[in-house]
Amino acid sequence: SIKACLFDLDGVLVDTAKYHYLAWKRLAEELGFTFTEQDNEKLKGVSRMASLDILLSVGGLQFDNAKKYELAERKNNWYFESISKMDHTEILPGALNFLKACRENGLKTALGSASKNAMTILDNTGLTPYFDAIIDGTRTTNAKPDPEVFLLGAAALSVPPEQCIVFEDAEAGVEAAHRAGMSCVGIGSPATLGQAELVVSSLQEMTIERLKELSLAR
Ligand code: G6P
Ligand code: MG
Repeated sequence: SIKACLFDLDGVLVDTAKYHYLAWKRLAEELGFTFTEQDNEKLKGVSRMASLDILLSVGGLQFDNAKKYELAERKNNWYFESISKMDHTEILPGALNFLKACRENGLKTALGSASKNAMTILDNTGLTPYFDAIIDGTRTTNAKPDPEVFLLGAAALSVPPEQCIVFEDAEAGVEAAHRAGMSCVGIGSPATLGQAELVVSSLQEMTIERLKELSLAR
């Protein structure tokens, strides 16, 4: 049976994609090209440096590593300005209620995010106390679809992977969950998250009942 729920952050608990987009777009404009919202879709769940590589390929530009780190830092400073102003009103619908329900039902909770800014976002939105373990981009070396972030989460909770369920909005995250030996609930559209055991449009649709049905089906 299920003993723990592991949550991705961006796109599952909070909508930070818009802030990432504004910062990447600003960087692209400084570099002299346009970066669209459609281009931004490719960055979901992708690490900071891999995101920069995708952005630069859209602009047809190449830089050495030193310059790339400088560009990524510039983007992150703008992004950080946005997330510094976040508060609890930016928690996605259903997320807080579901986190509370998990804990009331004796399930452990962990964060499994690629973001190095996760602690700022969790603290500003007031979500930090709802997690038994927090694994973020400062603790991992391999980005999703590598299972590392979720395996570290399960280990921190002392729950075997097969008793964990992951909540993810990115295709790479669903793959990471599966490679960790965990089931996955996709948050978003079945068109992109079809590999997940269940897809819902938001955590508002998620209940402990549905979680239990999932674990019975396995
Ligand atoms: C999440 C987001 C990505 C972001 C990555 C790294 O996976 O979905 O868009 O690039 O985290 O975030 P960071 O805050 O460290 O730049
Ligand atoms: Mg995400």
